[in-house]
Amino acid sequence: MNNARAVLARELAIDAIDDRLYGSFIEHLGRAVYGGLYEPGHPTADGQGFRGDVLDHVRALNTPIVRYPGGNFVSGYRWEDGVGPLEARPRRLDLAWKSLEPNAFGTDEFVRWCRKAGTEPMMAINLGTRGVDAARSLVEYCNHPSGTQYSDWRVENGCAEPHNIKVWCLGNEMDGDWQIGHKTALEYGRLAEEAAKVMRWVDPTIELVACGSSSRTMSTFPQWEATVLEHTYAHVDYISLHTYYGNRDGNTAHFLAQSIGMDAFIEEVVATCDFIRAKKRHKKRMMLSFDEWNVWFHSNQADRQQQPWQEAPPLLEDLYTVEDALVVGCMLISLIKHCDRVRIGCLAQLVNVIAPIFTATGGGIVKQTTYFPFMHASRYGRGTALDMKVDSSSYEDPVFDAVPYVEAVGVLSEDRGELTVFAVNRNLEEVVGLDVDLRDFSTARVVEHIALTHSDLKAVNTLEQPDRVAPSALDDSVEEHECKTRIALPPASWNVVRFSLEA
Ligand code: AHR
Repeated sequence: MNNARAVLARELAIDAIDDRLYGSFIEHLGRAVYGGLYEPGHPTADGQGFRGDVLDHVRALNTPIVRYPGGNFVSGYRWEDGVGPLEARPRRLDLAWKSLEPNAFGTDEFVRWCRKAGTEPMMAINLGTRGVDAARSLVEYCNHPSGTQYSDWRVENGCAEPHNIKVWCLGNEMDGDWQIGHKTALEYGRLAEEAAKVMRWVDPTIELVACGSSSRTMSTFPQWEATVLEHTYAHVDYISLHTYYGNRDGNTAHFLAQSIGMDAFIEEVVATCDFIRAKKRHKKRMMLSFDEWNVWFHSNQADRQQQPWQEAPPLLEDLYTVEDALVVGCMLISLIKHCDRVRIGCLAQLVNVIAPIFTATGGGIVKQTTYFPFMHASRYGRGTALDMKVDSSSYEDPVFDAVPYVEAVGVLSEDRGELTVFAVNRNLEEVVGLDVDLRDFSTARVVEHIALTHSDLKAVNTLEQPDRVAPSALDDSVEEHECKTRIALPPASWNVVRFSLEA
């Protein structure tokens, strides 16, 4: 058996994990909203048209925050189109996804849906075709109690209480030429600065996210961040990061290594933030919002064949494999390892569109393979992150050099009296025995070892075969000795090892 070593110790604490690390994202794109969250007439729909089966699956994920309404969509969105009487709402061309937007679902519906799903809204404003005026009106509509034009409009629309939306994104991917109203860093930095200032005048309690680069591969990265922060540093709380990975050339070993690029991306953005902080002699440490991350590539070809101007077309409907779930697991570990700076994370997206939950319009629902690592991290990954100082053998990759077979992080929850290890074994052939030195957790006893793996790494869950891939509890995978535990990690697997600290 191939071996790796690691440590679990209080003195290796990274930081307290912000629960919002396990956030997600819903965009007006494809069937995320229409046929996903909202489908009046569906057998499980409630009086507001929200699908009950989707709500149940989202609640089980316990995702604390959901970003909305885009994504690329937001850069052409008029928020006023999506509020007020349904019959008065306009149908519009959505230029971002070449679709038809009926506006039957908008800000108030989203906030009501969030309340039912047990999550918080994270709202993005349009800095593509619009600007400061629309931004401050939307904050007034959502967060001002009443007695002004926009707040009274909300009350008239049936929402007497303010929505009190705390986190606001200042546009979306403004560095990309695919974005409606794409800007240079200087143009965006100035606009974001003014929008931020004025939005805070309406509600001083809100938190703001400036747009960072839409990926590490953008030629403008990291100068984009530096210029944007030159203008916005004093006004914002977070800078955003986005990244998507894919196995386009069928090289699974390389695909599994890609989270190493995510680690580097985070560390480079942190360095850029800290450079601007030093330059400005600013007290505040800028935090990161990794508000789009996932695997995205399966649907690219099919999407190119879609006819334009359909309502809720099947776009970005990636069907996720076991190896995709392992990459999602590695990405979750990367986020947890950097929780001292990454405070918000949004798995992009939540339903139907590159999502862990997949529905048939008018039909059933299925948990994709990626549902499971996300659910495990959201459920058991709350507390203090512990750097495990993993010492693992590695394999060579042309881009990432020496790639450790084992990727792992610990989470200590003093409240629940629990310690959890999340680990991915990237070794496609062999079991790896992970020896964990438990140091000051001498009372820790394994209560459960859950693993997600499959003999076919391309296996998927479908509406016809919904349970082909599912996590299972392993027996006989753990050997416990005095202050030392050996965990057998199956080849190509995502693992959750839960320890109880009760003596
Ligand atoms: O999540 C899908 C798209 O990816 C989003 O609309 C955009 O922000 C990103 O390019």
